[in-house]
Amino acid sequence: MRHPLVAGNWKMHGTRASVAELIEGLSRQALPAGVEVAVFPSCLHIAQVVRGLDGKRVAVGAQDCAVESAPGALTGEVAASQLQDAGCSLVLVGHSERRLILGDSDADVTRKFAAAQSCGLTPVLCVGETLEQREAEQTLEVVGRQLAEVIDALGIDAFAKAVVAYEPVWAIGTGLTASPEQAQQVHAAIRAQLAGQDAQVAAGVKILYGGSVKAANAAELFGMPDIDGGLVGGASLNADEFGAICRAAGN
Ligand code: 13P
Repeated sequence: MRHPLVAGNWKMHGTRASVAELIEGLSRQALPAGVEVAVFPSCLHIAQVVRGLDGKRVAVGAQDCAVESAPGALTGEVAASQLQDAGCSLVLVGHSERRLILGDSDADVTRKFAAAQSCGLTPVLCVGETLEQREAEQTLEVVGRQLAEVIDALGIDAFAKAVVAYEPVWAIGTGLTASPEQAQQVHAAIRAQLAGQDAQVAAGVKILYGGSVKAANAAELFGMPDIDGGLVGGASLNADEFGAICRAAGN
């Protein structure tokens, strides 16, 4: 059985003071049993969050990692081994903001996925189509290709310890959410693609939905059979709202 996961991607937000407040707010939340919870602060705040949430049932992840897993001469990057050392257990790879704004290629994303796993971190592979691609009815093709890049390079067994996040680009930070049926269709296609290689791996992989998830729409989304939780951006910066989303995953 898959336990739901609710993950908060804090993106490039936070100061030491606001992060301290968020930690305190999260610490007060009643988190439902059987729901895994994770937050992804900026690299700068990982140590503060790991310390602040010590003993709580909240895992900490990073928003990206270097293509090389080991420390070395790569100015400005952070190695997966350093993230692991800092207390992270997960890392996002291939977020659309990195693919589309910062130029991460499919090959980069695959290397980051492999680097994360080689250090014992769980990669959260983000996939999703732009509005233009959706309107051209290319959604399943685009998402299928992003997924196939990693499966072809690393093999299906790599997904035995990975999470997939479907985040339609047009739904990120726009207030537009994919309808539960729209999201379910893509989630089912992702699982079917994995099942084409290994049914057992496919049945165990958590597939999260991301894109304007909030307390008001979470329960409906999480009620779909192939939606195993959410990757939450803006709403994760409010501890009470994020707590409510976590509780929606428990129902
Ligand atoms: P929003 O929830 O702000 O739309 O962001 C989604 C996202 O990109 C999470 O990774």
